Amino acid sequence: MTRTYQLAVIGGDGIGPDVTRAALDGVQAAAEHFGFAVETTGFDLGADAYLRTGVALDEGTTERLRAHDAILLGAVGDPRVTPGVLERGLIVALRVAFRQSVNIRPVRLYPGVTSPVTAVTPDNCDLVIIRENTEGLYTGGGSTTHPGTANAVATQTSITTVQATTEAVEFAFRLAAARRKKLTLCHKTNILTHAGQLWQDVVDEVGARFPDVDRDYVHADAMCQHLPLDPGRFDVVVTDNLFGDIISDLGATVQGGLGLAASANHNPAGTAPSMFEPVHGSAPDIAGTGWANPAAAALSAALCLATLGERDAALALEASAASVLAELPALAGPRMGATTAELGRRIADRVADVDPAKIGDPGRSLMSALAGLAPTGRR
Ligand code: IPM
Ligand code: MN
Repeated sequence: MTRTYQLAVIGGDGIGPDVTRAALDGVQAAAEHFGFAVETTGFDLGADAYLRTGVALDEGTTERLRAHDAILLGAVGDPRVTPGVLERGLIVALRVAFRQSVNIRPVRLYPGVTSPVTAVTPDNCDLVIIRENTEGLYTGGGSTTHPGTANAVATQTSITTVQATTEAVEFAFRLAAARRKKLTLCHKTNILTHAGQLWQDVVDEVGARFPDVDRDYVHADAMCQHLPLDPGRFDVVVTDNLFGDIISDLGATVQGGLGLAASANHNPAGTAPSMFEPVHGSAPDIAGTGWANPAAAALSAALCLATLGERDAALALEASAASVLAELPALAGPRMGATTAELGRRIADRVADVDPAKIGDPGRSLMSALAGLAPTGRR
């Protein structure tokens, strides 16, 4: 029987629906070529739905999403909605509801793409940031007394649990064991002594089970220097939610721009669907123009195929997106020379004959490592 995956699709706001549609062309082409089927169900979530209903995400929708094998998300965010409402009420809510405790953010410079940092080359830039995705400062607890006055006092609570930290750290070690066998903890243990010690304890404890994986540590501020100047130092970086948010934008710049940075909100145990989204936002200024680059959405969809265990399809979609990127005169905007939809077609057309080895050894690729760690829980 043909393997069939049920994909929930949340196009979202701004350029989100366009880049997601383009990425789905690549997914369908890969499914056809590699002999599986993908059925999609669209979900009307994001700013328009919120403005219409006053609700960012309700329980019934959450449960309908839960019934899927994976979720593709375009982008969420709109100037008409107060900042935080959709970010917390939709994205963070889904990350928590579906225990997507691991955010996978590859930082890889593909051949033919130029990094703004001159010392960065495809040979020295292939790392992956594993960001704890459900807690830290993102738990949102806190208070404000006397708001808006000269006596205002705000607290914002950061929560760090052994459970979620262990999930992220364990996944990072398993990934490192399948890659170049190096794990770097990125934190700020010199100032955040309580949370920092918990992270270090978990890394030491889990690390004892992975004697072949070398361990390293960098402070989050120092990371902002090492990542652009010496990316080759890193293989798998594991870090807390907010540090991961910040350093992954830096990573995106290092690998050529936010326009090609992919991410997976991953439930490593497979107890609920994982969610895949480009790191870039909804870019309302260019929404509807066709000037958005669908590469980050296509690369996120490749991560989706990898975590479903579809290694060859993931490798082909990644290589196809990379080969299209390599020939673009500009990575975004009208100077790209083709529209979002045209680029989606171009990526899809190549999936069947692209050679993944052209962009590097497929055996060492993140896609292969992820496919090897694909959760089997739900299927
Ligand atoms: C990201 C985004 C999100 C985050 C927002 C939109 C909630 O910046 O995925 O990096 O802060 O995690
Ligand atoms: Mn971010």
